[in-house]
Amino acid sequence: MSDNNFDKDIKIGVLGSGTMGSGIAQVAATAGHRVVLFDTNAEMLDKAKSKLQKILARLVEKEKITENTSRDIFDRIEWATSLSDFTDCGLIIEAIIENLDIKQKVFKELENIVSENCVLATNTSSLSVTSIAGSCQKPERVLGIHFFNPAPLMPLVEIIPAVQTNDDIFANTRALIDNWGKETVAAKDTPGFIVNRLARPFYGEAIRIYEEGFADIPTIDWAMKEIGGFRMGPFELMDFIGNDINYTVTETVFKEFFYDPRYKPSFTQKRMVEAGWLGRKTQKGYYDYSENTQNPEPNKDSDIGHDIFIRILVMLINEAAEALFLNIASKEDLDLAMTKGVNYPKGLLKWADELGIQNVLDSLEFLHQEYGEDRYRPSPILRQLEREHAGFYFNSHEKCEHNHNDEH
Ligand SMILES: NC(=O)c1ccc[n+]([C@@H]2O[C@H](COP(=O)([O-])OP(=O)(O)OC[C@H]3O[C@@H](n4cnc5c(N)ncnc54)[C@H](O)[C@@H]3O)[C@@H](O)[C@H]2O)c1
Repeated sequence: MSDNNFDKDIKIGVLGSGTMGSGIAQVAATAGHRVVLFDTNAEMLDKAKSKLQKILARLVEKEKITENTSRDIFDRIEWATSLSDFTDCGLIIEAIIENLDIKQKVFKELENIVSENCVLATNTSSLSVTSIAGSCQKPERVLGIHFFNPAPLMPLVEIIPAVQTNDDIFANTRALIDNWGKETVAAKDTPGFIVNRLARPFYGEAIRIYEEGFADIPTIDWAMKEIGGFRMGPFELMDFIGNDINYTVTETVFKEFFYDPRYKPSFTQKRMVEAGWLGRKTQKGYYDYSENTQNPEPNKDSDIGHDIFIRILVMLINEAAEALFLNIASKEDLDLAMTKGVNYPKGLLKWADELGIQNVLDSLEFLHQEYGEDRYRPSPILRQLEREHAGFYFNSHEKCEHNHNDEH
């Protein structure tokens, strides 16, 4: 890499060949790069190799790629057995175990091996990128590149500059990942970045509604799918992700936000984890997945369904509004992240405009007053917009025009 730009034929190093690393290696090789994939566990590397062979064979079978392309992709990957194989890489993406001490140690080791200009990235979901950069001699070349699972299929990638990251390195890395056909968004180095932060109320508020006995699990899922247009209900999604993983993310985000009650985990989910009811992978979670089991039917009362949907939606919108208020990302990136990263039917800020800022604020203020809990406090940006009769995507003048046109 030159100081300002990645060479076209830059070699990519991927550290860790598990779920994420193997997918990222496939993405980089498909984009035409030579890739070095390394894992301390030889078995994991073998597993990644046979998994990739199967994936490529399936793509050929479905006529998505030719036999030749499949061979080229596979041949571009070098299955490394030592960190020293990263010597001539221009960018290294780390996707090893989510442990700060281990990541910091590995980054230090990498700096002794790679060239001056090699960029070092972490795929961490929940650790501070700044703290990883802080352990390096050249922290300005460290940043976060956060892919979603499965990396070859999910279009979104969050790019996270550490406090120390050089601006050109950030911009060039983002451009490179854009060139791989991904939709990139820029996020400030704060807990959960964009997606894992904004999505918290989807789970947390759904569990809260269930805990209060307002509705049962199938009814809440039904409301979010049928009325809200979400692909999966919150409980179905938690069972799909795994309650252990979902709970850990919630707990981490809560701790990292200095215990802001907005992110408080629930006893319901903690108990699910303690019971070993992790979801699909254990055949039992909020639903029973064993054969010949009939799960309860939802109560398809449209008034109840509407109340459930609005309560969860306004909490999601409030989280997105607060992230905008605190400059975590641009409004466009916040909306893109949720539609491309977790398939939400609409961007949350766009949705707020459609619903009406006044309506969103009224619902939140009702909840805040009723419960007296800080978790329902409305973001100041909602109050500002309401005062100005504006929305996230229009100002008061445009709204006036819109209303004016409506009258004729
Ligand atoms: N799984 C997800 O949905 C997901 C999504 C986005 C980001 N992430 C993040 O990506 C990273 C990897 O997660 P994963 O789910 O792929 O984990 P994983 O357990 O599937 O794979 C981790 C791999 O790293 C290897 N490893 C451990 N220590 C190593 C070391 N010192 N050097 C080289 N290899 C080492 C392990 O042998 C294993 O193969 C984590 O930081 C995680 O937070 C995960």
